[in-house]
Amino acid sequence: MTESPFSIRDGREADLAYLNAYAAAEGMDALPSATGVRVAVNDEDVPVGFLRLQKGENGVFHVNPVVSCATWRGWGVGRALVEEALARVGELYLVARGASVPFYRALGFKEVPWDAIAPTIAADCDGCEMRGECAPLPMGKKVL
Ligand SMILES: CC(C)(COP(=O)(O)OP(=O)(O)OC[C@H]1O[C@@H](n2cnc3c(N)ncnc32)[C@H](O)[C@@H]1OP(=O)(O)O)[C@@H](O)C(=O)NCCC(=O)NCCS
Repeated sequence: MTESPFSIRDGREADLAYLNAYAAAEGMDALPSATGVRVAVNDEDVPVGFLRLQKGENGVFHVNPVVSCATWRGWGVGRALVEEALARVGELYLVARGASVPFYRALGFKEVPWDAIAPTIAADCDGCEMRGECAPLPMGKKVL
């Protein structure tokens, strides 16, 4: 069996420089802290992707966001981070950028109504000047 080229651990404050560079490259806001963050690291413990879980005021967990380092895309980092989070919390919601909808569909996520998304997270898209271009889609998945 081939060994995975990455492993997943809790995020640390010391990871934030990497993680925020990956977020900035996608036009995303910097992470406020390492709370709720899981990090995929290479064999030298360098972050190659991350997922931040955020519990909404509606009591359910949201992916906000998941990002793989551009040079590591297509290696299963995003899938591993999302599947691990789903196994931990049982049910996950998110607002997918249009470009990432095929990724979430590949993982079995389905479109859900906007009111399934915590209002503060849904509000991130309100008034965003990129909304038309981004075509955000609310999605979710429950563990069977
Ligand atoms: C979306 C993202 C996290 C995917 O990460 P990744 O590490 O490349 O994903 P994986 O290699 O784990 O791919 C998982 C599956 O999704 C599929 N997939 C990923 N991107 C895809 C795309 N653009 N179109 C179609 N399928 C795609 C893969 O083929 C793979 O399918 P398989 O497991 O059935 O073979 C990554 O492209 C990224 O960081 N994008 C920028 C940030 C972003 O938009 N994040 C999502 C919004 S929160």
